Amino acid sequence: MAEPKENLQMEKIVSLCKRRGFVFQSSEIYGGINGFWDYGPLGAELKRNVKELWWHAMTRQRDDVAGLEATIIMSPQIWKASGHVDTFADTMRACLLTKKLVRADQVEPQSGTVIRYAGVYRRSQENKQFWNLIEEFAPSLQNIEMLQDLLKKNLSESDLRQASIDTGNSDRFDEIKENPKHLEHLKVIASRYHADALFKDCSILLPLGKPVESAQKLANQFYTQNECVDFILLGERTEKVNNSTDFHPESGMMLTEARPFNLMFKTHTGPIESGENIAYLRPETAQAIFAQFKNVLETSRQKIPFGIAQVGKAFRNEITPRNFTFRSREFEQMELEFFIKPDEVIEAIHGKVASAADVSSRVCKNADSPRSDEARLQSNWGWQAWHQYWVEERVRFYEGIGLDRSTLGFHIQTKEELAHYARACTDILFKFPFSKKDDDGNVAGDELEGIAARSDFDLSQHQRFSGKPMGVFDEELRAAWAKLPKEKQDDLWKRYYDNRKNYLTKSAKPDETPEQISKQATDDANGLAKGQYIPHVIEPSAGVDRLILALIANAYSEVTETDDKGKSETRVTMKFHPRVAPFKAGIFPLLKNKPELVKKAQEVLELLRPWMNVFYDEGGSIGKRYARQDEAGTPFCVTIDFDTLGEKPELNLKDTVTIRHRDDGKQERVAISELLNWLLPKIR
Ligand code: GAP
Repeated sequence: MAEPKENLQMEKIVSLCKRRGFVFQSSEIYGGINGFWDYGPLGAELKRNVKELWWHAMTRQRDDVAGLEATIIMSPQIWKASGHVDTFADTMRACLLTKKLVRADQVEPQSGTVIRYAGVYRRSQENKQFWNLIEEFAPSLQNIEMLQDLLKKNLSESDLRQASIDTGNSDRFDEIKENPKHLEHLKVIASRYHADALFKDCSILLPLGKPVESAQKLANQFYTQNECVDFILLGERTEKVNNSTDFHPESGMMLTEARPFNLMFKTHTGPIESGENIAYLRPETAQAIFAQFKNVLETSRQKIPFGIAQVGKAFRNEITPRNFTFRSREFEQMELEFFIKPDEVIEAIHGKVASAADVSSRVCKNADSPRSDEARLQSNWGWQAWHQYWVEERVRFYEGIGLDRSTLGFHIQTKEELAHYARACTDILFKFPFSKKDDDGNVAGDELEGIAARSDFDLSQHQRFSGKPMGVFDEELRAAWAKLPKEKQDDLWKRYYDNRKNYLTKSAKPDETPEQISKQATDDANGLAKGQYIPHVIEPSAGVDRLILALIANAYSEVTETDDKGKSETRVTMKFHPRVAPFKAGIFPLLKNKPELVKKAQEVLELLRPWMNVFYDEGGSIGKRYARQDEAGTPFCVTIDFDTLGEKPELNLKDTVTIRHRDDGKQERVAISELLNWLLPKIR
């Protein structure tokens, strides 16, 4: 069967990544380790550029975001408060034969013929006289009772006599034989004695075109694993199944029941491994931001609305890491927690909350037009407007590093998909080569980033678990509240109270009573009059590794050319946006054995090096050097030739270089003195 095109595309990408040093399998010399990847020289540069660009756009370019770099291991209480200890789990199922795990929600529905076995009959010294009989009736024996019935009907006198010896009744054998009730009892005992079977279901979805024998083979392996040595299969049945998710996609063997599996990697702090010093490798960077919210607020002199950004490693013990780096066990996240005023507070201060539609018209859509400056941000934005704003901002970011809108998709999470505390979540998707097509052939894509409106859940949880106040004081609110008419105060109070009560009820600890919850919600709502509230949060959370994979897949382009002799060659060009490209320019002396050319090229190298990552190459023909840089994704190649040295004064080209553009091969001549100014705006 032909390989699906998208798999071939991924194979090419994976192979290029290894060949050119973008991504290597972790621990490759020891056979690798599933779900872990290393970035080689080009990949490390690409990744660094992406993280720098994100950091730049999210913090340095803004007045309203501060940065944080927290530890990977934190107090385990953080993960209790966040809910990760209790609920950060996927359900998994295992192949009964290979023990390979799959995520229950990721098993593709399969249809076809299933061969089911009820169990096996094990051969022993004592039961070998029944072997032919069992063989004859094997398919009809579905359970132990049927097997015993069969044996009962075929017991010989010597079997019964043996049973009477085994039960200590040998001297009464003749008497027992004559008494139907006692004889029946003896038969039952004798048949049990010989019913040496293991009844344990084993079902196999027969791969298309495979004979039943292949299922028998798998069943034999399964029962052998269950400590059966010499046996015959019992109760073989054939059944048609449609869209079943009960079989392992590779082996066809039946899967175990679904079980929850916590995805956090556990470790211990200190030399003693005990329950008291359990710690977790963080499964997301976000929680450190919530835990340090008060410290950052106080030291950065920010006011709500403002955000805290962090880039760093996260670890999840994924059941089935897959699609190259897309789902890994160790990966990096770029997360922003943007803290905003609750809608009731906006309404108290501004009289009205701006609608989300108001945002779209304000935010620039084109990534290369001047960014949406903060003058556009409105103080009357509520959570919907801020959520919309961040979705737009993040799309602009992706466009700005070369991912066209047409390569992206969106998934707006449904009520059923949303976490109980979340008000909305929009996933930004990228159309990866492995992304699924719907029935009409459309590709939605797979998640690059989620932008969630998480209410005040996270800060509230940390307030409750740590006992430290996470609320803020807002003088504007206090002053505005005092001037509100009584009915407005009552209306806002009630809405805030209801929201708090709802949160407190859903997150209540077992020993909390409804009275305590109502009292806490009342205290929280009373805080409004004093200018106090717990901020809400909008969270744009992106994965670095998924973005790198998206950029690589997006950049990959190949051309196959056939020469006069019919020999064809495929050339790969990685069309990275210059902002993310690992090297910004290749610097080539035309010939390596001409010291004047080499000297000049070295001068150009030293000129550019403090400003950007450049690659010096003097080996091989210029064509080969271009090809090498095309594969690395270098957007510009700078060649120092004899005109640079001014060998033909009449051309007036002394101290100029040739710049060759990667994507269309066009060349232009630029003065060395102008080179930096020419390059810088293109790569920033
Ligand atoms: N704090 C919210 C949070 O962590 P998430 O959707 O679980 O949300 C955010 O993760 C992003 O992190 C995802 O959109 C994805 O880009 C990335 N990510 C999550 N799990 C990943 C994995 N196993 N491998 C690679 N990237 C992952």
